[in-house]
Amino acid sequence: MGRAYKVEGGWRLKGRVKVSGAKNAALPLMASSLLVEKPVVLENIPRVRDVKTFSLLLEGMGVKYEWISPSTLKLDASTLKEVKAPHELVRAMRAGILVLGPLVGRMGEAQVSFPGGCAIGARPVDQHLKGLELLGAEIKVERGYIYAKAKKLKGTRIYLDVPTVTGTENLLMASVFAEGETVIENAALEPEVVDLVKALKEMGAEIEGEGTPTIRVRGVKELRPITHRVIPDRIEGGTFLIASALTKGNVLVEDIEVGHLEALISKLEEAGVILHKENQGLRVSSYSRPKAVDVRTAPYPGFPTDLQPQFMVLMSLAQGLSVITETIFENRFLHVNELNRLGAKIKVQGQNAIIEGVPHLTGAPVMSTDLRASAALVLAGLVAEGETLVGGIDHLERGYDDFKGKLRELGARIEEVEIDENH
Ligand code: EPU
Repeated sequence: MGRAYKVEGGWRLKGRVKVSGAKNAALPLMASSLLVEKPVVLENIPRVRDVKTFSLLLEGMGVKYEWISPSTLKLDASTLKEVKAPHELVRAMRAGILVLGPLVGRMGEAQVSFPGGCAIGARPVDQHLKGLELLGAEIKVERGYIYAKAKKLKGTRIYLDVPTVTGTENLLMASVFAEGETVIENAALEPEVVDLVKALKEMGAEIEGEGTPTIRVRGVKELRPITHRVIPDRIEGGTFLIASALTKGNVLVEDIEVGHLEALISKLEEAGVILHKENQGLRVSSYSRPKAVDVRTAPYPGFPTDLQPQFMVLMSLAQGLSVITETIFENRFLHVNELNRLGAKIKVQGQNAIIEGVPHLTGAPVMSTDLRASAALVLAGLVAEGETLVGGIDHLERGYDDFKGKLRELGARIEEVEIDENH
């Protein structure tokens, strides 16, 4: 048996919804607590499973964690004793690799399970390892584990072949204590990287250039504890914007950072969706069938790969033909077959999905393959005629804070049911 969401299509979303803190900012920030010998307090942490898994990972290393409010987490790494990130936890969450940089930076040693591929692609970590080696760490890969050791890291120039998000974050956390200056070239520009740097600077790290391709870090001796508020989750916010547009709803998305969503917002506007900035957030309304627009995913500030599956649902119902090009992950079209089961007309050719808009989708049982695909299938269920059963919702719960509850508040008919996954 497995759990599924039963979604009854055809209800317009109305009302207001608050975006939670960003999962992909929260995880590196949690990892940064390893760099401090006193308790760090993180506010606006989303209650999602990856955060839970990361807490367990840190706890296994001797870090004490405590929820001091429903969204405030205190992490105390003064009792850090283990430098190992075991396979069971890294397998459940690739972001476990984020402990590598801070452990080598503070302890001079780390043992982290080598993250394998996942449904959306191979996802190598060669740039993380190359950077650490350039900083002076000795790296070995044995029996599925990365072993890193360094007496003292030394500042250097690291050119990243790709602007990897977690790679940039790992190298930033490794270099805060490195002797002299470290320069990371072709660094990731994502807001989550900038949020991490903001916190590291509050702790006393000397960093400049975050949000640009060249980040400079000047090593310091120690860092001090801080209280830091995590930025809003732009992917969750974007998911609600798309959901509202899809159902021809009228929703105020609160606590959204509009500046982080320019690429999505301009594509929604091109598609004919109406967006208005209001004091508390962004209002989205839509009255007509969307127009077909082409989208190409790219590193920030380009269109986020993490919103590609959700946007594809909107294009499935658009007037005309659109092409979505996925340039970040080689296998992030696993939702296509499931959307086609609901009546969408999508063909994949290499890194392009060619979508012929249809007037309506019809409900059916579908299966999620990864986090963002599962959100896309729920969105499709909101507009498909009749009932859609979305299986594999464990994926969804890894990264969306109370998705079902928030959708219900907006008037969606969605409930959790047990299903027999063998049928
Ligand atoms: N890459 C390499 N070598 C490396 C690292 C990355 O070739 O050493 C390649 C990847 O294969 C990929 C590209 O570089 O083609 C970008 O990958 P990146 O490393 O930036 O991805 P990530 O850091 O593993 C983060 C998010 C993902 C998000 C991507 C892209 C976290 C914890 N995860 O992953 O989030 O899709 O950036 O924006 O921050 C999600 O939340 O659903 C999710 C998958």
